[in-house]
Amino acid sequence: MTWRATVLTLFPDMFPGPLGVSLAGKALASGLWSLEARDIRDSATDRHRSVDDTPAGGGPGMVLRADVLAAAIDAADAGQDRPHLLMSPRGRPLTQSLVAELAVGPGPLIVCGRFEGVDQRVIEARNLEEVSIGDYVLSGGEIAAMALIDACVRLLPGVMGKQASGEDESFSEGLLEYPQFTRPQEFEGRGIPEILISGDHAKVAAWRKAEAEALTRVRRPDLWAARPGQNATKNKTDG
Ligand code: ADE
Repeated sequence: MTWRATVLTLFPDMFPGPLGVSLAGKALASGLWSLEARDIRDSATDRHRSVDDTPAGGGPGMVLRADVLAAAIDAADAGQDRPHLLMSPRGRPLTQSLVAELAVGPGPLIVCGRFEGVDQRVIEARNLEEVSIGDYVLSGGEIAAMALIDACVRLLPGVMGKQASGEDESFSEGLLEYPQFTRPQEFEGRGIPEILISGDHAKVAAWRKAEAEALTRVRRPDLWAARPGQNATKNKTDG
């Protein structure tokens, strides 16, 4: 079975969008994964095809209806066992390890929120896991869903071809990427670090590791403190 992303949205025309070009787009065209964007509005039942209503208790904006969204979810995956995600700024932060987990499964069903939110009852009744792509607010979950799907797709077998496998990436080791250089040898008076043109692979690897570590320490002390192998609470038997 190929990895499949099903997206429930009020704006299905936004897909595949950027997922239709470049690495993800080529992989999509060659059948390495599949994408289904479904219109939540197709599950509306009333004459006006309404999908939202005013929030109980008052307040601004509109809330996505539980009955309509539940019907859309049920129509999308008749009993299939796969993750149900809801893109939302209040969700669990999307990390490379969550991406890696989602990439090895059958592929998620992703609900894109809009308006002021989604009726809490459908989140519980359909076991939706809320996922956030960062501490900022987008106008809807579609772009967040695209980010999540793109990050998963590049890890699928056959997608990255000859390039380094996802496991080689510094991010999976909890580090930021080391700096890269290419021709020309000199650019506006700046050269390339000598070691990179030395041909000494061991020295190059050591230099890159040191650069990645230094960058991570300075820019992302949170990642540095939490990198794999670091025990936040040192084991008593460690000596
Ligand atoms: N929808 C709106 N903002 C979002 C965010 N930061 N992450 C995921 N989904 C969102």
